[in-house]
Amino acid sequence: MSSLADMIALARAAMDKAHAPYSRFKVGACVRAASGKLYAGCNVENAAYPQGQCAEATAIGAMVTAGDREILEVVLMGGGPKLCTPCGGCRQKLVEFAKPGTPVHLCTRKGRKRTVTLGQLTPMFFGPKNLGK
Ligand code: THU
Repeated sequence: MSSLADMIALARAAMDKAHAPYSRFKVGACVRAASGKLYAGCNVENAAYPQGQCAEATAIGAMVTAGDREILEVVLMGGGPKLCTPCGGCRQKLVEFAKPGTPVHLCTRKGRKRTVTLGQLTPMFFGPKNLGK
């Protein structure tokens, strides 16, 4: 089985491939799916700024494309000296496929790390229950 170190290595490799010429802020994400497979993604910016995509969205897209639907663990690595927390939109994207207790490891390239849960990041999230599902 893959380890957290494997996830961090994949997030770092994805971050190194980020297309971030506008913010110069590279981000890499890795999600571990229930199948045991790991999916990584980087942020992909665009000259039309709102068209840029976050690293988490890229990783989730790869996961869903491969047929997985359940996230058990997340690593998010930002290129800066501070821990990179997921933006609001990405918290919502993670909520779709993960649970409140899902660990989210926030990392820097230099080895800083803090683990929180998705529930801590997204109290009172909007989910299927709000839709009556
Ligand atoms: N970014 C991510 O990739 N994930 C986040 O959760 C926060 C922000 C990216 C978007 C943009 O390319 C850059 O970081 C600066 O905001």
